[in-house]
Amino acid sequence: MPVDPLCPAKRGIPSQVLTSGLEASQAVAREIADLIRLRESDGQTCVLGLATGSTPLDVYAELIRMHREEGLSFRNVVTFNLDEYYPMQPTAAQSYVRFMNEQLFDHIDIPAENVHIPDGTISLDDVAAYCDGYEQKIAARGGLDLQLLGIGRAGHIGFNEPGSTLDSRTRLVTLNDVTREDAASAYSGIENVPRQAITMGVGTIMQARRIILLAFGSSKASIVARATEGTVSESVPATFLHHHSNVEFWLDETSAAQLSLS
Ligand code: F6R
Repeated sequence: MPVDPLCPAKRGIPSQVLTSGLEASQAVAREIADLIRLRESDGQTCVLGLATGSTPLDVYAELIRMHREEGLSFRNVVTFNLDEYYPMQPTAAQSYVRFMNEQLFDHIDIPAENVHIPDGTISLDDVAAYCDGYEQKIAARGGLDLQLLGIGRAGHIGFNEPGSTLDSRTRLVTLNDVTREDAASAYSGIENVPRQAITMGVGTIMQARRIILLAFGSSKASIVARATEGTVSESVPATFLHHHSNVEFWLDETSAAQLSLS
């Protein structure tokens, strides 16, 4: 197991700093493609944990290019997305189902039944059982081979906001003000941003065999420095990644600007 919560946190999370986000995204897409091909050559499925938001867009664009131009097939790929707003209709403009279809799934040959995204239409009474089922589906597929992450300005991974615990699992959460402010433009005002979301837990993410966190741009510089070099604490959930034995941050020069460790 890559995660041993009892093992002391490492000082600093390994980081790859590239000159641009595009360059980093293309390198990460190559790693994902290599993993898909390796698993396929072993007759295995490749189980990917995926993120939404602006950060992974170039990774998805590069995977689509590799599918079109290099014959990269996704028929053996199974995906689990990190999160979805709650409540949320899958057809809504801000839905992560729609986002993933438009940015990736509509352009590749992944079987529809291999795609999993938390369902924002589940009734409140059923949401806890639904979240347990999401965990069981990940486990039934053998766990996540690779989890792609972005990071929120307050240090969330998925929608695990400050206060989330290391052992948290998929669940309904309340979004904090920073997250809702960052989403406000997509909703024409913060008052329209949902107050809740379904997210994989920190514990769910930590069980992935490999984790790649992407962060680009100067607005992420401060949280990247806190996440990679700060003390492990629930107040910055991304710091829990210090306990993972196979995690890397992929950064551009601006998001890496406040790092002090060599
Ligand atoms: C998205 C997710 C979030 C985002 C984070 C960064 O599925 O789980 O943690 O990765 O909020 O968002 P962007 O990439 O838009 O800066």
